[in-house]
Amino acid sequence: MKDLLGIRELKKEAIEDILKTASAFKDVLRRDIKKVPTLRGKTVVNLFFEPSTRTRTSFELAEKRMSMDVLNFSIPASSVVKGESLLDTIKTIESYEIDFMVIRHSSSGVPNLIAAHTKASVINAGDGINEHPTQALLDAFTIMEKKGRIEGLEVAIVGDIMHSRVARSNIYCLTRLGAKIRLIGPPTLIPAEFLSHEQIKVFYRMEEGLKDVDVIMMLRLQLERQGKGFFPTVGEYFKIWGLTKERLGLAKPDAIVMHPGPMNRGIEIASEVADGPQSVILEQVTNGIAIRMAVMYLLSPPQGGKS
Ligand code: CP
Repeated sequence: MKDLLGIRELKKEAIEDILKTASAFKDVLRRDIKKVPTLRGKTVVNLFFEPSTRTRTSFELAEKRMSMDVLNFSIPASSVVKGESLLDTIKTIESYEIDFMVIRHSSSGVPNLIAAHTKASVINAGDGINEHPTQALLDAFTIMEKKGRIEGLEVAIVGDIMHSRVARSNIYCLTRLGAKIRLIGPPTLIPAEFLSHEQIKVFYRMEEGLKDVDVIMMLRLQLERQGKGFFPTVGEYFKIWGLTKERLGLAKPDAIVMHPGPMNRGIEIASEVADGPQSVILEQVTNGIAIRMAVMYLLSPPQGGKS
């Protein structure tokens, strides 16, 4: 495989291979010296056309832990602002004999377009409302660590499913690994494509959907991608679909609470839940490094060059 563009096209075995490899890299990250020479001599460029905290920093750390040469391409300081096209930008960067391109973009499909025009391995770091594959992989890794399995678990994904690339990638990833998915949210924010899937149940009320779940994955309300009219007000949204301590009590007592970040505290999740004992939100962030190391390792061609 040259690129990681999404989870949709990955087989169960490929996902399991990434999770197993990430587990080995997590052991490396527990050592005093956290760096390995595995990808020494390889060059990566991080192209983030959209803001990011977690994904950008953990890719950069993963790259440095693997001893790669790292270029962080700053979009506002580049000739993109003078009108240089996306493909001219990519071709220019490719002239430096780049091995990996990590791409985040507000338009769905941009990583696929770039992958078709470069010999470098392209990793999708989130494209529009389409996919965020490394987020889903780190989420699956975190669930495995906490629950010891994914098969048969009841996983609630709550909120703005419609505009969430994290939700899409997680639905593809977790169903392939055998989880049962419950989507909970306003009817206006649940896409029709998920209404008739044998591993997915849809709920419009938290009180029904959260009953006895093993995992609650809250989603950010993506106000920047929405028009108006999906729900009355953000205050109303929290009242009906916000995760409070009382609602968390409907889940299994050992349920874990996840959120990809950044969180809107008091809009989709109460602070006492986000910071509470069942939250694994910061562990998700930690696991992002091992997952991204694993992805780059597995995409790296064997010694002797790309075929
Ligand atoms: N989860 C996630 O993609 O967060 P960032 O936007 O901060 O990278």
